Amino acid sequence: MENKINELLAQVEAFNATAPAEIEDFRVKVLGKKGSLTALMEEFKSVPAEQKRIYGQRLNALKQAVLAKIAALRERAEELSAAAPQIEDMTRPGTAEQLGSRHPISLVKNEIIAIFDRLGYTVADGPEIEDDSHVFSRLNFPMEHPARDMQDTFFVEKASTEPSENDVLLRTHTSSIQVRVMERQKPPIRVICPGRVFRNEAISYRAHCIFHQIEGLYIDRNVSFADMKQSLLYFAKELFGEQTEIRMRPSYFPFTEPSAEVDVSCNLCGGKGCPVCKGTGWLEIMGCGMVDPNVLEANGIDPKEYSGFAFGMGVERIAMLKFGVKDLRLYFENDVRFLHQFDSVL
Ligand code: PHE
Repeated sequence: MENKINELLAQVEAFNATAPAEIEDFRVKVLGKKGSLTALMEEFKSVPAEQKRIYGQRLNALKQAVLAKIAALRERAEELSAAAPQIEDMTRPGTAEQLGSRHPISLVKNEIIAIFDRLGYTVADGPEIEDDSHVFSRLNFPMEHPARDMQDTFFVEKASTEPSENDVLLRTHTSSIQVRVMERQKPPIRVICPGRVFRNEAISYRAHCIFHQIEGLYIDRNVSFADMKQSLLYFAKELFGEQTEIRMRPSYFPFTEPSAEVDVSCNLCGGKGCPVCKGTGWLEIMGCGMVDPNVLEANGIDPKEYSGFAFGMGVERIAMLKFGVKDLRLYFENDVRFLHQFDSVL
């Protein structure tokens, strides 16, 4: 008995392991049902009565030593595993990262910018919270123009019910950026102005109170309506395909004279007429016109020396036509099942 106790004690003291499984194996080998210490405890039952006291103490001490050893080894194993990287199987396949993708509005916006970039336009930016002067007055909106009405414009600060150049509001079009460009730059000016705009409109499948516009402004000596038409034809062909035609219909904007609406031939039916173009073969995509001399003058540019053209389009509308999306609200809901369909386009 004495020898067996000493032998086991020596074994316990000599044992060393860092892997939790090895420590557990050791515990079972010593303390398990068929363990060496369990066997000694069994043997202890048949020890003569006068030796029971001494062997009882020895066996108890041995058991304490075993328990202390296991506790110490487990603690160290835990420390080691916390410090070391947990790579159990280097050959296991990694977990796939879900990649995000560009929003369809950004895709179309970037494509439009790229097309005008090829024509030498640079991108200009401006604030979304604007004053009346940049959104209306300096774009030749008379004080009584209905677009200044609370119906269409979200006002942030308004001194009285009468319109004033100091009113603070959310821009209703990105033409305000063009005013800011004219403020700081002498002609030649060739800029494209993308941005969010805000209008107090009921939300439906074809209108939203927040949407995106891209407007362009070109001012130089001898810029003509023909230059505008050619630039916009190039743009339409680049965006919708080589076979695309455009037509212009007379229109009205306070800041351009003459003004026109631009239609492109329907890219779905090729101009024959279909539900998307309502049987006309044409789709309206933007407004345009020659910059009104009053606007040039209000922004410090001599209309006798310079002329220019401007155009503006809604990005959601173009994206709806390009992707065949029938409800504009889908662009704002950010349902990933909708958004993922555009992962690989453009
Ligand atoms: N600002 C006009 C709009 O918001 C678009 C436009 C821009 C029309 C430039 C003509 C010239 O509808």
